[in-house]
Amino acid sequence: MGGMCGIVGYVGSPPASGRPLEVVIEGLRRLEYRGYDSAGVVVVTPEGLESTKKAGKLANLVEALEAAPLGLGTAAIGHTRWATHGAPNDTNAHPHRSGRTAVIHNGIVENFATLKAELLAEGVEFASETDTEVVAHLLDRAYDATGDLTSAMRQVVRRLDGTFTLLAVHAHHPDTVVGARHDSPLVVGLGEGENFLGSDVAAFIARTRQALELGQDEVVTITPTSVRVTDFDGKPVQARPFTVDWDASAAEKGGFRSFMDKEIADEPKAVADTLLGRTDADGQLVLDEIRIEESVLRAVNKIVVVACGTAAYAGHVAKYAIEHWCRIPVEVELAHEFRYRDPVVDERTLVVAVSQSGETMDTLMAVRHAREQGSTTLAIVNTHGSTIPRESDAVLYTHAGPEVAVASTKAFLAQITAAYLVGLYLAQLRGTLFSDEIASKLDELRVMPDKLQTVLDRSERVREIARWMADTPTVLFLGRHVGYPVAMEGALKLKELAYIHAEGFAAGELKHGPIALIEPGQPVFVVVPSPRGRHSLHSKVVSNIQEIRARGARTLVIAEDGDEAVVPFADEVFRVPRCPTLLAPLLTVVPLQVFACELAHAKGLDVDQPRNLAKSVTVE
Ligand code: M6R
Repeated sequence: MGGMCGIVGYVGSPPASGRPLEVVIEGLRRLEYRGYDSAGVVVVTPEGLESTKKAGKLANLVEALEAAPLGLGTAAIGHTRWATHGAPNDTNAHPHRSGRTAVIHNGIVENFATLKAELLAEGVEFASETDTEVVAHLLDRAYDATGDLTSAMRQVVRRLDGTFTLLAVHAHHPDTVVGARHDSPLVVGLGEGENFLGSDVAAFIARTRQALELGQDEVVTITPTSVRVTDFDGKPVQARPFTVDWDASAAEKGGFRSFMDKEIADEPKAVADTLLGRTDADGQLVLDEIRIEESVLRAVNKIVVVACGTAAYAGHVAKYAIEHWCRIPVEVELAHEFRYRDPVVDERTLVVAVSQSGETMDTLMAVRHAREQGSTTLAIVNTHGSTIPRESDAVLYTHAGPEVAVASTKAFLAQITAAYLVGLYLAQLRGTLFSDEIASKLDELRVMPDKLQTVLDRSERVREIARWMADTPTVLFLGRHVGYPVAMEGALKLKELAYIHAEGFAAGELKHGPIALIEPGQPVFVVVPSPRGRHSLHSKVVSNIQEIRARGARTLVIAEDGDEAVVPFADEVFRVPRCPTLLAPLLTVVPLQVFACELAHAKGLDVDQPRNLAKSVTVE
């Protein structure tokens, strides 16, 4: 089974060039963040299909290919896998072959057991434990009946339940790759005399910026000079073209030790780019992309943010700002919980889906459910050509650039920034803030990249502490108000990167239970609000620091420049520049990201590809 996987397909160039395999491996390298349990490729050579597949990271496949090179051909497809069922071994790795057909798959074929029973009864022998192999056998048989790979694909996909992106090649068609998508991502890259398919544009941005979006339930056939798209019944479909505005170098490590280090260093730019071009000459917010009738937005009486993981914490931060600025109640809900609890949403609810990848299945399902209830849906997404924006009423793109490391960093900052723009836009439309108030908040946002740079320039101390703490078994994080989701995000980063137990709490909750965890030496990060904001908030957090310090905690405090009140109770103070309370998360989260990243490096872990995880969670 191919749960959340990276998929690449290529056709073009003379076979002797070796380019197809080179392009596919390069694409897999850029998509490896989607899954890294195994990898495999197949090339259509004049002698037939030649494939290699290996358990483990892509490097294992590359090594195997160097030891035993494949023949040359015009078309190739490749896969990097995040296993759902079926051990991540060589046999279960993709591609799966049957006769003259080879298939790779992202998703889960839910009715595979029934289909397998049928094939077994017909005497078909299975090599692997995967659902995907069923598709390979069905496709090979359908091809034998029709002599056409595209119509064979259409026949087969109509029999499948579940989610899938499939790519297939056939030995009789050395210059064709056929793809199909149903609830899993697939985009087309358009080249000169060559064409590409990929789970996302990162697969081919080094080669072309011209791309086509594929819709739900579509089949695509690429040759070096043509791209044909139909629905599952064979009716031609006009695919929507788009230009990828990501810079290919943004998907390279560029001298950093890891993508995560680079992506943290990119944060000032991610925030600046997300703000860029979103005001007119008079300073009015013009979110052209939000093509939702103003009357609908004025009538909104509730906002529900649906998201998962880090994106949900970004939504949680935004709740404080949007409620304050717009006086609309905002709920933040984990998308997987939202979908299955019969939420109360209707035509006057604005459902905001936040997602870096735009492919998170839980979030997509929440969007679909919200639309079925008549709600208006707005996506805040980083990846062009992805599914969530396609299926939402409107989209505001974050311009964070490609995020390759599995742990989300710059996307978090860009999501908060974009959500704040939405909040200010609603406030402008509904008149809950004066235009000079909006203008001054935008000015404050515009100076955040410089302040962020200051935080980054000061990060050596937090790195040092992280290296010292490499053996710590547990770390707690406390925050209040917008500092609360920041604390939870700090804990998530540490869990996923360094495999250390970590928890984020609302500081006010301490005395209701968590303070029992404090024992001498327990490290606790505390995110302190500005003393210039609501004074009570600041002084309450300072009291919390005293309370845990009194019980022996080792206090690692993130506080604003000039906040001297924390000094007597802090073992360490990490300083951030002064800024308005609501904008502080854009700064205070950074030392926590750096801490987790550095600590994972110190433990010798793979920072970009932590165990058991995949970047895009494209199955529920
Ligand atoms: O692509 P998305 O933003 O929808 O992904 C949501 C989460 O899966 C993601 O933020 C995840 O929690 C990250 N690994 C956190 O670093």
